[in-house]
Amino acid sequence: MLLTGSETMLNAISLKQVSGSDPELRQALVEAHLPTDDIEDEGRIFYKAVAGDGSSVGYCGIERCGDCRLLRSVVVDPERRGRGFGRAIVEATLRESNGYSDTYLATTTAAPFFSIIGFSEVPRESVPPAVLATRQLSSICPSSATIMKLQRPPT
Ligand SMILES: CC(C)(COP(=O)(O)OP(=O)(O)OC[C@H]1O[C@@H](n2cnc3c(N)ncnc32)[C@H](O)[C@@H]1OP(=O)(O)O)[C@@H](O)C(=O)NCCC(=O)NCCS
Repeated sequence: MLLTGSETMLNAISLKQVSGSDPELRQALVEAHLPTDDIEDEGRIFYKAVAGDGSSVGYCGIERCGDCRLLRSVVVDPERRGRGFGRAIVEATLRESNGYSDTYLATTTAAPFFSIIGFSEVPRESVPPAVLATRQLSSICPSSATIMKLQRPPT
């Protein structure tokens, strides 16, 4: 791996796939007030982000919806926020789970964070039915949630 600067080294993470029944995943989501009702359903993949020292930094998930994917369950350990790990986890997850036509997410609190990464808000009417039908959008997230779409290929 080529590391070009101190920031790259500080934010270096690797992803390890974990099951939706992983108790530490559930605990991290509960503590961040993110939905857990559907994490053990089929069609979801969750990753744990591990720092260079082996410690767990956070989690991120992908939910398949037809040709598209829903990015979900993005959480960074509260003590390690604001250091670029959130962005690193999302970028790594998007690279790891490629092959989808479009990437969507729903958020009630973190739209500015996802804007920086390359997502922008889209009207609910423009969202494919398979994405709207996910439990995240249809029942768990309030209808006031911001729906965002990735506007560039993952880097
Ligand atoms: C949202 C979250 C994942 C961000 O993780 P993080 O490690 O703090 O984010 P980063 O340090 O990678 O931030 C990347 C950029 O986004 C910005 N940013 C991060 N959180 C932000 C927020 N809530 N509002 C505005 N900007 C934010 C940072 O300033 C940084 O900007 P820069 O690149 O210009 O310096 C983290 O705060 C978290 O776990 N929150 C609780 C769970 C949650 O809300 N998840 C999202 C819903 S799925």
